[in-house]
Amino acid sequence: MKRRKEKSRFRSLPALVYKIASMPELKVFLSREQIAERVAQLGAEIARDFQGEAVIFVGVLKGAAIFLSDLARHVPLDATFDFIGVSSYGNRPIAKEDPAGHAAWDSLGEVRLTKDMDQSLADRNVILVEDILDTGLTLNYISKLVQAHQPRSLRIAALLDKPSRRKQPIKAHYIGFSIPDAYVVGYGLDYAEKYRNLPDICVIENP
Ligand code: IMP
Ligand code: MG
Repeated sequence: MKRRKEKSRFRSLPALVYKIASMPELKVFLSREQIAERVAQLGAEIARDFQGEAVIFVGVLKGAAIFLSDLARHVPLDATFDFIGVSSYGNRPIAKEDPAGHAAWDSLGEVRLTKDMDQSLADRNVILVEDILDTGLTLNYISKLVQAHQPRSLRIAALLDKPSRRKQPIKAHYIGFSIPDAYVVGYGLDYAEKYRNLPDICVIENP
């Protein structure tokens, strides 16, 4: 019954997205409507907190690109964008592995910079935008990097947070949803680079 309802909803999507979204192992965990509502609330919070000031959104490639573009449109302030790229050694699940990915995921946890910021962050209000806060290694690394630029302020906006997975203490100021330990894809989040284009956030079931 539930699956039929989901299928009929997916039918309204373009063919490619429908094909991916209706794969049996993907189950909608957070719908596009839920995401849109929460992202608008976060944007309003940021706008209130930085009223009368300029901000720079720094997105962590590639997962945060969709969240950043939606979030920033709910922040009617003087704003600029920048992007930073990082890769985590031994940190990405590969297709043949357990999609929960945790064996691979937990391994080395070394973070490496693949793309630096283009703009100076000195004396600016920086909002680091990340798709998901998991072990905390990535944001710890990036926060230190940003702090070295001596920004006026630094805040973290993470769409999702998995607090039970934390290895390094770090807190985001703006969190969309706190979720349990599950592997999620869609709305920018990938599994082996796939599924970033799903409009909903889904859990991979029955790998
Ligand atoms: P951390 O360094 O362990 O906090 O991991 C942060 C990064 O891991 C995120 O930017 C994501 O790219 C990735 N990640 C962690 N959990 C998930 C997930 O459930 N789905 C997709 N990517 C994830
Ligand atoms: Mg990421």
